[in-house]
Amino acid sequence: MNIDHVNLLAIETSCDETAAAVVEDGRLIHSSLIASQVDIHARYGGVVPEVASRQHMLSIIPIVEGALREAGVDWPGITAIGVTRGPGLAGSLLVGVNAAKALALARNLPLVGVNHLEGHIYANWLIDREEGKGNEELLAAHAEPVFPLVCLIVSGGHTDLILMKGHLQYQLLGSTRDDAAGEAFDKVARLLGLGYPGGPAIQRVAAGGDPKAYKLPRAWLKDTLDFSFSGLKTAVLRIVEGAGKEADGKAGVGRPDLDVAGLAASFQEAVVDVLTTKTVAAARKYRARQILLAGGVAANRALRERIAAVLPKEGPLPVHVPRPIHCTDNAAMIASAAYYRFLTGKTDGFDMDVVANLRLV
Ligand code: KG4
Ligand code: ZN
Repeated sequence: MNIDHVNLLAIETSCDETAAAVVEDGRLIHSSLIASQVDIHARYGGVVPEVASRQHMLSIIPIVEGALREAGVDWPGITAIGVTRGPGLAGSLLVGVNAAKALALARNLPLVGVNHLEGHIYANWLIDREEGKGNEELLAAHAEPVFPLVCLIVSGGHTDLILMKGHLQYQLLGSTRDDAAGEAFDKVARLLGLGYPGGPAIQRVAAGGDPKAYKLPRAWLKDTLDFSFSGLKTAVLRIVEGAGKEADGKAGVGRPDLDVAGLAASFQEAVVDVLTTKTVAAARKYRARQILLAGGVAANRALRERIAAVLPKEGPLPVHVPRPIHCTDNAAMIASAAYYRFLTGKTDGFDMDVVANLRLV
């Protein structure tokens, strides 16, 4: 780590991961630690907010200390502190924001509040350290995203198409009218008895299924860049409810005529189809030079492969997708976004509050 450079320590506690990271100049990750609570919430089939904030309280200090230790840096080497201030669960956000404020006050460091979605976008700027490679070499090997770009944010709570003409400039092109893509994965996984979190479970089961097994609807919402996934979810529900009915009236998962792998694969295919088609259409319409994917669902292998495959036919639109570990919630992405805010002098006072429904645009 070069201490003449800007080193951000960032904290992320918007949902059920307690995370801290140290990132140099918005791009080079020196450490990125995530304490996952997934095992604790899995037994409830979703995140329980009170349990999440209590876990954050237990994990936050060890995670911050661990991030500094792993980065091999002490407080004099840190330039500023970034933290997610929304959107997310208020009780969870509060733990991170209060920890960040306390540390900024104690160490006399600038405080930078970040929108969680902005963090997901900036995961595309991150570079992992590689054994034996210097900073210059790493930077040369990983080109920065170029503007104007179109970014598809697909997370548990959001499905947004964003146009960026420069750093920190966001224009909303379209978003979901009902469920977010990740929410649809989670709900359908529950319908199919696949557990929580749903996205990775569906991906795993779908790998052994035929994506043409079931004909499922796609909401194209023609002439808009909006999305809708609730009809698709209902269609899956109807199929599950119908399974086995003809035989003895008892329906549901576990009936021999319900092909769970095929249904998971067909569902995933329908989501990927709509996300890819709309993102490419947005990029063409706004003459984007690049497409970025962001958020937990961007970790989905089928989506990553499809968008990469479709693009060469569509013209020179390089697509960038963060590594799967940087797609789901982490603090390195918050450090990156905080760095670009910090560069423009956008710091926050100690009166900064959490905003559970903070908007990006
Ligand atoms: O961005 P994220 O970690 O948290 C939010 O900000 O919401 O996204 C979590 C969402 C969950 O709905 C999860 O099921 C989904 O991302 N997800 C996936 C995959 N990994 C996580 N969805 C599809 N395929 C995956 N591999
Ligand atoms: Zn997230």
